[in-house]
Amino acid sequence: MVLIARSSFFNAQRRAFSSSAATAYKVAVLGAAGGIGQPLSLLLKLNDKVTDLALYDLRGAPGVAADVSHVPANSTVTGYLPADGGLEKALTGADVVVIPAGIPRKPGMTRDDLFNTNASIVRDLAKAVGDYAPKAFTLIISNPVNSTVPIVSEVLKSKGVYDPKRLFGVTTLDVLRASRFISQVKGTKPEDEPVTVVGGHSGVTIVPLISQSNHPDISGETLDALTNRIQFGGDEVVKAKDGAGSATLSMAQAAARFTNSLLTSLSGTPVTEPTFVDSPLFKSEGIEFFASKVTLGPSGAETIHELGAVSEYEEKLIEACKVDLKKNIAKGVAFVEQNP
Ligand code: NAD
Ligand code: LMR
Repeated sequence: MVLIARSSFFNAQRRAFSSSAATAYKVAVLGAAGGIGQPLSLLLKLNDKVTDLALYDLRGAPGVAADVSHVPANSTVTGYLPADGGLEKALTGADVVVIPAGIPRKPGMTRDDLFNTNASIVRDLAKAVGDYAPKAFTLIISNPVNSTVPIVSEVLKSKGVYDPKRLFGVTTLDVLRASRFISQVKGTKPEDEPVTVVGGHSGVTIVPLISQSNHPDISGETLDALTNRIQFGGDEVVKAKDGAGSATLSMAQAAARFTNSLLTSLSGTPVTEPTFVDSPLFKSEGIEFFASKVTLGPSGAETIHELGAVSEYEEKLIEACKVDLKKNIAKGVAFVEQNP
């Protein structure tokens, strides 16, 4: 059970009268006025475990907050800008911090091409998390996730507040895509098609374990095409948006789902979801972070599951994944060393 002091009298009152105090959480969204931030804020407003929604952005957050606050759900929504200590106010008392701040891809770019801009944005926001919400569960959406998560980890380590169980790279969109795409191949319902996706969040580092799905029979060209579509699903959206950004609506749904899984787990009902975490699975090979199924609980990432039996085909995918992932993680770590 997690009980965290609230900053405002209002929230203390709400908590006191709530039937279950452990289901009342403050969630801060950093980058809340962006393409992901806006629909994510709406979806979080609709989550009854969220009682206090703090929306922060360089611009536009108060407008988004005013708009979302009219949705009839009993939570407070406040928008913050950098002026007047807005970031500190947004983060103080936050149980969960979700970070979609940063630029998205345009056609022809890789996620790694975003590194030069997004690394410093994420580093600076991580410093603020370390200062004002050191115990918060922090969910990183900003790309390249394979590098931004290690950046946050290094910053929190430098502040002496790093808890590996509380830091997550959100890879849920890969999981949603896998369910949807396999349902299209098989003519089934996506909600009946759980697919574990492991590794990281870019191109060949995204490894769907189809052999563990309901359809281990998928093979040959169908398996190649399905795997490729899951690995490069992001490119489909980037291409279709034609310069106007990348996935925002499906990503908001994915982040809302992962946030809800975490809040459900904090409230005492464990949920297992794939997510990119500080992981023992391949540390002996110098890979500090890896996405696999993780059972979430009151302390965060409580059990990191082994990959389980994988096919020969998937073994090859995992080998290719590890090569890129190791470089992406090292790049994030080096960035903080060189630009503390
Ligand atoms: P966007 O440009 O629409 O929105 C980004 C927002 O971040 C903007 O409102 C901007 O003002 C804000 N911002 C920038 N610097 C900030 C700072 N220092 N503090 C606070 N806010 C800041 O972009 P988007 O489409 O919402 O995408 C955001 C990020 O999410 C991108 O890096 C994108 O690649 C990534 N993304 C990740 C996934 C995933 O699966 N993890 C999926 C889709 C997109
Ligand atoms: C995605 O998978 O949709 C995101 O990572 C955004 C992108 O750049 O493709």
